[in-house]
Amino acid sequence: MTYPRKIIIDTDPGQDDAVAILLALASPEEIDLLGITTVAGNVPLDLTTRNARMICELAGKHETRIFAGCDRPMNRTLVTAEYVHGKTGLDGPTLPDPTMPVQDQHAVDYIIDTLRAQPERTVTLCPLGPLTNVATALEKAPDIAARIQEIVLMGGAYFEVGNVTPAAEFNIYVDPHAADIVFRSGVPITVMPLDVTHKALVTKARNDAFRALNTRVGTAVAQMTDFFERFDIAKYGSEGAPLHDPCVIGYLLAPHLFSGRHVNVCIETQSELTLGMTVADWWGVTDRAPNATFMGDIDAEHFFNLLTERLGRL
Ligand code: BDR
Ligand code: CA
Repeated sequence: MTYPRKIIIDTDPGQDDAVAILLALASPEEIDLLGITTVAGNVPLDLTTRNARMICELAGKHETRIFAGCDRPMNRTLVTAEYVHGKTGLDGPTLPDPTMPVQDQHAVDYIIDTLRAQPERTVTLCPLGPLTNVATALEKAPDIAARIQEIVLMGGAYFEVGNVTPAAEFNIYVDPHAADIVFRSGVPITVMPLDVTHKALVTKARNDAFRALNTRVGTAVAQMTDFFERFDIAKYGSEGAPLHDPCVIGYLLAPHLFSGRHVNVCIETQSELTLGMTVADWWGVTDRAPNATFMGDIDAEHFFNLLTERLGRL
């Protein structure tokens, strides 16, 4: 990988999105964060945009450019996840009302213009929520597909199957039609599915390590992961909450901590029963051409060490 890597984070914060944004902001040597685009997902768009601003301000990065995007999926009604993330989407810490501006341009147009303005294949898109903005950009400006360096996204599952339904992961389920467009786009894709993120658990010791940073960021991250944890511990009986979205940024910083397979991934867009399922040909039983690197494993210990060390820089 050549650093720094220019990226756009497309997100629906969400406590785990928030930690991903903080990790990127803490890593300017490797990551040149061109902008943050927000989308409706965990909570409605006005809240995800507000939360993105609050997080940038928490990091002291008021100059970050934030663009609001699509307020609903392409083809269906918005499904949100307040039952996981709380009413605000960012329940846990008490953060001040944000003052930094939201840019005037729509997120979809910002994505298109940025990809056209930057040299070909030098910008990576990092979607951490439903794929509505990215798919809308690809539909509106098909020429950008050839200009994207890579899409590294959190979404889907193979062995873990689903979290929001028995068959689907939340980000893909909320906008399966958008996911279908992205997976058919021909753009190089790296996927962090539940198979990986369910191994990135915030155990008590890892939560204590955030708190022990003894900084505003460390304390806020500990409070966020404390809140978000309640739901997952109750649901899975696991030793902590999965820190889904930071795996995307972790991969950009330290790809050697992740392993997976280059396989074909198709999205179910028809069936009521399995809507949003990521049908990954993990065992190579079809002749469908590989279109994504589907990760399966993470070195969680080193990932959390890196995350904690980076958060300590803010
Ligand atoms: C994904 O859904 C959201 O609730 C999280 O922020 C993450 O992006 C996990 O399924
Ligand atoms: Ca998310």
